[in-house]
Amino acid sequence: MTLLRLIDLEVRYGAIRALQDVNVDVSEGEIVALLGANGAGKTTTLRTISGLARPVKGSVQFAGREIHRLPPHEVVGLGIGHAPEGRRIFPQMSVLENLEMGAYRRRGDLHQDTERVYSLFPVLKQRRRQDGGTLSGGEQQMLAIGRALMSAPRLLLLDEPSMGLAPLVVETIFSIISEIRKTGTTILLVEQNAAQALALADRAYVLENGRVVMADKARTLLNNERVRAAYLGEGAA
Ligand SMILES: Nc1ncnc2c1ncn2[C@@H]1O[C@H](COP(=O)(O)OP(=O)(O)O)[C@@H](O)[C@H]1O
Ligand SMILES: [Mg+2]
Repeated sequence: MTLLRLIDLEVRYGAIRALQDVNVDVSEGEIVALLGANGAGKTTTLRTISGLARPVKGSVQFAGREIHRLPPHEVVGLGIGHAPEGRRIFPQMSVLENLEMGAYRRRGDLHQDTERVYSLFPVLKQRRRQDGGTLSGGEQQMLAIGRALMSAPRLLLLDEPSMGLAPLVVETIFSIISEIRKTGTTILLVEQNAAQALALADRAYVLENGRVVMADKARTLLNNERVRAAYLGEGAA
């Protein structure tokens, strides 16, 4: 079943056209990667899904419903969690308080939600009373993902979760993403780390200058010469 559908999206920042004719489908249970160089429009795509940017053309459909005119908190309420670029955790708040921010739409007992997040990220439980700002980069990324999971989303948007992290920590983050998918959460993953994203994803889209220039099974793209040359650091092609 198609969970998310972006149809003919166009998004502008004033005179700058950040996205044009973008069509993306994500099926329930998939990991779909969104690849592209800096400025290609990856973050704008996620922000448009979350209701943080508005398309001037096209639509965003989630679980059969048009959502691109809804405010961000309603989009969260429908089941879309977003771990934004640069993590954006609250450094002066404790780990637990940061997690609770991800659950703001819910009333009552958050125990189940925090325990679910702690089971994916045991280190966050150990550090739950510590300020977010005292965590390592990798732990802050776990906190950003954990916060996005507090609303028990059907679709998780991840914007460059590996950015600025050491290779070993990147491995950990990618294996956690794979664990999250096993719990039934669908994932749209934005990455500059194309090799690792394609190793994990079922399918991928490549954005260039705000347009989708390639879309295929991840395995197919891994073997594509143009992808290898442009995104996998194999400059020889
Ligand atoms: N707030 C903004 N105001 C003006 N231009 C922006 C803004 N955010 C992004 N852009 C521009 O939109 C394009 C796409 O940016 P972005 O979606 O952040 O790309 P990516 O995440 O792939 O690096 C770029 O040309 C970028 O400079
Ligand atoms: Mg970006």
